[in-house]
Amino acid sequence: MQLETQLKAQLTPHRYKHSLSVAQLAASWAPRMKLEPKRVWIAGLLHDCAHDLPGSVLLQKSEEFGILIGSMERKLPFLLHGPVGAQLAKRDYGITDPLILDAIHHHTTGIPGMCPFSRLICLADYLEPSRSFPGIEHLRRLARRNLDQALLAAFDSTIKYLLENEKLVHPQTILTRNWLLEFLKEVRG
Ligand SMILES: [Fe+2]
Repeated sequence: MQLETQLKAQLTPHRYKHSLSVAQLAASWAPRMKLEPKRVWIAGLLHDCAHDLPGSVLLQKSEEFGILIGSMERKLPFLLHGPVGAQLAKRDYGITDPLILDAIHHHTTGIPGMCPFSRLICLADYLEPSRSFPGIEHLRRLARRNLDQALLAAFDSTIKYLLENEKLVHPQTILTRNWLLEFLKEVRG
């Protein structure tokens, strides 16, 4: 079965449309990061394949797959849709490419040291055309000039939003943001 047909059966129409938009945007950026558009497209398409599973199912599947469930994940099982999604991409969609699986695994909080492929998926998830939130146009302008700087700004904006709305911030989101900040300073020299 085609990946799209299989995925469509697992997601709400809204989530499926979002997935297609992420795939298209990420693939359009791929040459700028010297990445293969087709591989990037598959990661974008499947990144949210576990998104619409109820929290109880995400917890149960995490246990089945041996995924570490921290205290944050217990409180917010939604955070497990990346790691569970990577396992489902492997088991149900036949994906073996470690770049694709890693990008799916880490697309929500990121991970310090994440590779360009995973960074691209994270950013496309944030900026795909149907997304709308205050400040998105600034991030889109930034992305036209520098994708990694836009990703750093996206992490900053997520953290600000979570703080302002009295929501929990996953420690890994902060660790990733700090890593990216230092990494980009090094790159700029
Ligand atoms: Fe997601």
